Amino acid sequence: MTIANDTTELAVRALKHLAEGTTDQAPQTLDLPVAAYLDEECYQREFDAIFLRRPQAVLLSTEVAEPGDYVARTFLGKPLLVVRGKDGVARVFLNVCRHRGARLCPEGSGRAPRFTCPYHAWTYDREGKLVGVLGASTFGEVDKAKLGLTELSSQEAAGVIWATLTPGIETDIDDWLGAMRHQLELLRLGECVVFTQRTIPSPGWKVTMDGYLEAYHHDTVHAATLSQHTIGNMLVHDIIGHHQILTMSRRNLPELASLPEAEWQAGNYLRRIYAVFPNFQISGIVGGYFLVSQILPGECATRSETIQTILAAKKPETSEDVAAAEAFRDMAFNAVELEDYPIGFGIQAGLASGANEHFVIGRNEPGLQHYHKTVAELSA
Ligand code: FES
Repeated sequence: MTIANDTTELAVRALKHLAEGTTDQAPQTLDLPVAAYLDEECYQREFDAIFLRRPQAVLLSTEVAEPGDYVARTFLGKPLLVVRGKDGVARVFLNVCRHRGARLCPEGSGRAPRFTCPYHAWTYDREGKLVGVLGASTFGEVDKAKLGLTELSSQEAAGVIWATLTPGIETDIDDWLGAMRHQLELLRLGECVVFTQRTIPSPGWKVTMDGYLEAYHHDTVHAATLSQHTIGNMLVHDIIGHHQILTMSRRNLPELASLPEAEWQAGNYLRRIYAVFPNFQISGIVGGYFLVSQILPGECATRSETIQTILAAKKPETSEDVAAAEAFRDMAFNAVELEDYPIGFGIQAGLASGANEHFVIGRNEPGLQHYHKTVAELSA
């Protein structure tokens, strides 16, 4: 396993590809049955094994930065309430009252000292403890200590709150992320602020993910936009356990070849895409801005939605800063919504046509190959 921390090493690899007209490759092409995109039984098995039983990147730490901050959001079909407690710990609860199951907190975000159920006013504190039972003298005996909100196994790491969505399943984020944790920590996501966030419909989960994991389409789909700045079909690819980092090169890369290596600021010539399995992508990192994408499979194999978050390393204050943040937002959002996803919806529409029994994944698409092999491995 190669882990490239050093941007100089990445640039050396990229320059070699540039000079030789090559790209990192998988050992051979991969045949992938189209049924893997369509079969509902397969989908339910994979969804259960991968999305419900393994850690998920539920929320960015900065979304609940202060004690009492909360986000109530339906996430992968589960009603979640993420709250930062008085002790500074972010906890992930099921947003379901323990009396008779009413939704405790309306969907949204804010800061609250406690949460009161809209049905019969049972009240929970920020740490999920049941602290109030309306008409307690009439209700009968209840052991409040056993009726706190149902908490999911969760940990905060690298500026992200990770949780496993099935109650009772304990997971360890270090086991899951391995060396990817350090790679993510280098991004200092926890120090960022949310500039804007939206949720958009996307094609089926796998069709959508495929578009995030290769640079082969870059110069065609994004010819007039992203391709003006970065080079397509030339990838430096690093596998880190289940996860991967795709490094693309900016079009100014040839300038590096004429500079002594000691003078390189190699990071200015590269664009890295962090792909945390199964659905958490950090990309488009330019000038202190990040596009974070969470691709959430829907109720069936052919639908998903994507939460897009623009993070800024520091809050834009001046009109110039705001204009720069808006320009980044427009570039990132438009590339996905107006260029990538229409292709994906077109693929989705043709999947069941019978035109293909399998897709052939190229050697120049090693990210897709690793992804689909990991899906198969973890859902077997
Ligand atoms: Fe919440 Fe009754 S369902 S108090």
